[in-house]
Amino acid sequence: MSKAELIEMAKHNLVHTKAGTIDQAPSVGRIPVEHYYDPERWQLEIRQVFKRLPLMLAMTAELKNPGDYKAMEAVGVPVLINRNKDGEVQAFINSCSHRGAQIMEEGRGNTHRFTCPYHAWTYNTDGDLIGVLAKEDFGEFDMSCNGLTKLPAVERAGLIWVTLDPNSTLDTDLFLSGYDAMLEHFGFKDWHFFESRTVAGPNWKIAYDGYLDLYHLPILHKDTFGSQMPNRALYNAWGPHQRASSPDPRLLETENEPEETWDVDTMMSGVWTIFPHISIAGFDGGGRSVMISQLFPGDAPGESFTVQNYLMQNEPNEEQAKAAHEQFLFLEHVVRDEDYATGLKQQKAMKTGANTHVMFGRNEGGGQNFHAWLDKLLTATDDELPGLFGLQKR
Ligand code: FES
Ligand SMILES: [Fe+2]
Repeated sequence: MSKAELIEMAKHNLVHTKAGTIDQAPSVGRIPVEHYYDPERWQLEIRQVFKRLPLMLAMTAELKNPGDYKAMEAVGVPVLINRNKDGEVQAFINSCSHRGAQIMEEGRGNTHRFTCPYHAWTYNTDGDLIGVLAKEDFGEFDMSCNGLTKLPAVERAGLIWVTLDPNSTLDTDLFLSGYDAMLEHFGFKDWHFFESRTVAGPNWKIAYDGYLDLYHLPILHKDTFGSQMPNRALYNAWGPHQRASSPDPRLLETENEPEETWDVDTMMSGVWTIFPHISIAGFDGGGRSVMISQLFPGDAPGESFTVQNYLMQNEPNEEQAKAAHEQFLFLEHVVRDEDYATGLKQQKAMKTGANTHVMFGRNEGGGQNFHAWLDKLLTATDDELPGLFGLQKR
């Protein structure tokens, strides 16, 4: 089913590749500059988007075995994600039911018991409270009601979505709008987690706009990788999730072969974003690889941080690991010193009042779409959410 969709996209790409055209949005879009720095709007984004919708917080490759866990902070919420002894992924707020201490230090590891560093209360991999120090002294209470607070967690396509609201009833599959079936074509569940790091950046939307934008590639990145890159993009959307790809002459090579033999990896080119804050881009440093970037708002509207993760299709040998490491260092340089350095200056200039709006051209439909979804979600009630997702597939 989704391979058929991939073939349809490749055919559409071929039409544009041959004609030298792209799809265009109906008109030039305008976004008020305050949307990038207004503190109230920024708070609303955190509440209505980041703390309400499923976020892709971890990758299967980080948590392959029972007992594997990852502790992290997401928009101020300490989160503990693990794979329990039955192999299921679960997520909890990383906070002890005794007096709230964070149980696991940020990072990854493997354990079959979570022991709080404060008074050694202990939880199993399902988050059940199983040990209370000096219980006879502590006094009576119901241990079965005092496990870790569970968060909705769903594993699809080798990626793990967690909703930071423990009471959320939003169906993650509905939110994904069929996009996970497309992402399955990467086969991430069998990939190798290589490295990750964190890069500081500007307002999260200024940063995220750049991931949906191929228009800037040969200009801003002319001295690094972009001088020969196309600046034209085709956008496809599944609900709020979007893929950006360029007209791809490689597709011409197999155009006359039977469709079922068309190369899936070639058809998966481009940038696959996951609303509201993920970008997946392919590379070949050390073998087939992707950089999965997770963007998070920082402590103020003008701050964000991005966790860059490098995943490889196969576990690298020594030489491949060296090449992968170099590729990943290069990507840090490009993002920090070109994209985010530009974004930090851009947000400073936006606040001067020189422009009331920023523009997204008809060739920047991905950015237009992203901001339209954000607008919609900032005003949508919880009850309206299911109606928004799942119906928007095109
Ligand atoms: S706060 Fe965790 S055991 Fe006391
Ligand atoms: Fe860029």
